Amino acid sequence: TTHKLLLLPGDGIGPEAMAEVGKIVAVLNGAGGDRFETEEALVGGAAIDAHGVPVADRDMDRALKADAVLFGAVGGPKWDGVAYEIRPEAGLLRLRKDMALFANLRPAICYPALAEASSLKRELVDGLDILILRELTGGVYFGIPKEIVDLGEGQKRGIDTQVYETYEIERIARAAFEAARTRKGKVTSMEKRNVMKTGVLWNEVVSRVGRDEYPDVRLEHMLADAGGMQLVRAPKQFDVIVTDNLFGDMLSDIAAMLTGSLGMLPSASLGAPDAATGKRRALYEPVHGSAPDIAGQGIANPIAMIASFAMMLRYSFALMREADALEAAIAAVLESGTRTGDIMAPGCRQVGTAEMGDAVAAE
Ligand code: NAI
Ligand code: MG
Repeated sequence: TTHKLLLLPGDGIGPEAMAEVGKIVAVLNGAGGDRFETEEALVGGAAIDAHGVPVADRDMDRALKADAVLFGAVGGPKWDGVAYEIRPEAGLLRLRKDMALFANLRPAICYPALAEASSLKRELVDGLDILILRELTGGVYFGIPKEIVDLGEGQKRGIDTQVYETYEIERIARAAFEAARTRKGKVTSMEKRNVMKTGVLWNEVVSRVGRDEYPDVRLEHMLADAGGMQLVRAPKQFDVIVTDNLFGDMLSDIAAMLTGSLGMLPSASLGAPDAATGKRRALYEPVHGSAPDIAGQGIANPIAMIASFAMMLRYSFALMREADALEAAIAAVLESGTRTGDIMAPGCRQVGTAEMGDAVAAE
């Protein structure tokens, strides 16, 4: 099988980190299994400079046709003055919207070699590997009415509306159960059915999808506030957490802080399966931005970008063995004491971006 990837390196450290993924692709292409064909296109500031827009129509089209998209980072001081509608970030927003990416996957992985540096108790996070699925296109961020009403006499009313329909919950639930099947086989659904109607519906739909379509996956329900507490108290009890847009926003940021540096955090956004091919649209990207403060110096940590590629192997192509091997290679390199500046620790050897990529590829 040949997988067609669109690489969108973007700005700042985006291209530096993306270059290291190229080394991993070369290793895989030399290994005799599935093959990867890569194409590159401009996005963000780089696309503004070349085409006057943060993503050209032609490249948007390539993103829609690709088997998966790997995105670096966009933005930087050079483009701070451009019009709001064509700012670098608008390129990423258009990709998310046009690809209909409704599920945001944020893993929280704590490599044993870095557990020491975590702000939390070591035994709490050592070996942590959980995945949060946040619903990304519905809920209170988009529900109508959304307004501030002037009531007169100095009083106003702010209104946001949480709305979820059955199909929206079904598709995020399926994405969660499918992810769990590639992992430890457990899903925890979080809502607040005790005070919210959307929570009642969420609970009902997730339960039905689990019972009818994924009887092999263990499903548990937790109230979202209790879930937040459990995430900090005993995070290793979780495998996959599925929750709405607002709770997911907060819970994934909390989970990220269990693991440490921004330079280590990958993410994925999944869309609906294409009606014709059955393939899910997907975009993979590090959580970090373009880091203008260290761009061009060859010192950025490429692990978030490489780990995003590992997520692509797992969630787009079901290449579990290859994804496991790549994640194990990252862990081994960290274990050996090879570190970029952002995760440097006493007694370790500090390397640059290219050396880190070489080390992971060699491993
Ligand atoms: P940032 O994530 O770019 O950087 C925050 C801090 O973390 C900086 O000190 C940076 O040097 C460090 N850092 C980030 N990634 C690193 C890595 N891989 N290795 C080592 N150190 C790393 O966030 P910031 O500074 O708020 O934003 C910078 C630019 O990036 C802005 O233009 C912003 O709009 C854009 N941005 C883009 C994102 C995206 O493309 N998805 C996400 C976040 C910000
Ligand atoms: Mg957030």
